[in-house]
Amino acid sequence: MAETDALPVVRSVAALRQTLSDWRRQGFTVGFVPTMGALHEGHLTLVREAGQRADRVVASVFVNPAQFAAHEDLGTYPRQEARDAELLAGAGCHLLFAPSVEEMYPAGATTTISVGGPAEGLEGEFRPQMFGGVALVVTKLLNQARADVAVFGEKDWQQLMVVRRLVRDLDIPTEIVGSPTMRDGHGLALSSRNAYLSEAELEVARQLNGVLAAAGAAAASGGSLDVVERDAREALLRAGFSHVDYVAVRRADDLAVFEGGVADAPGRILAAAWLGRTRLIDNMAVAAPS
Ligand code: PAF
Repeated sequence: MAETDALPVVRSVAALRQTLSDWRRQGFTVGFVPTMGALHEGHLTLVREAGQRADRVVASVFVNPAQFAAHEDLGTYPRQEARDAELLAGAGCHLLFAPSVEEMYPAGATTTISVGGPAEGLEGEFRPQMFGGVALVVTKLLNQARADVAVFGEKDWQQLMVVRRLVRDLDIPTEIVGSPTMRDGHGLALSSRNAYLSEAELEVARQLNGVLAAAGAAAASGGSLDVVERDAREALLRAGFSHVDYVAVRRADDLAVFEGGVADAPGRILAAAWLGRTRLIDNMAVAAPS
């Protein structure tokens, strides 16, 4: 096992399994936090949550090529493993799994996972390759770690719903826990991609959560969802976003469209909008009208 100053690091599935089986032999339960690195306080909250729920915590850092389209930011996605290891250790993580692309996808690997249900529409429409790639890597990671519990951020709400569906459909015996979105003092959801924003873009980005909160409140008080979504899209463009992929209110759990055009059950408002070359996503709960 390699070791940074901060944290033991394993790079092979065999070494990961060896450490985790040693832990289990000692009677420890295992919590798992999958990440793509470039860690911020949001990820560390997931690690702390895993630490509340299990005796030992392993985090993975793997920038998964399968979930990026050719034109996306795989090549420039921020990578800072030594810093990540320090942050993980400080948050109570016990082990870092940082495999290579070859370890995760050995030559000749051809199996894919086909996703549906909550993967359809929203991110699934604008990033059609993404949830198949997420489902593949998350299935592999959950099989590799066989953790008791795995923690995912609610910031990627649709991803969380896709993962919940996946473990149900594929009988993966790991409990999936969602952890609330961490925000900065202005309400901006923490994201590794915020590092791409200029000061001026950051000012605009910080308005996204306010627009969603207002639109979510209008939806919760019975407003027509067509109107709520159109008004929110216009508000984002007025705030300075260069382009809006979607603003949508959907049923919270399966992300299905509200057929009656109003939110008559617990919902979620979700958005993706661009600032120059940076794409931001966010989402919030929409209470059902009482
Ligand atoms: O949310 C992420 O960082 C990634 O999509 C995940 C779950 C680690 C899979 O690569």
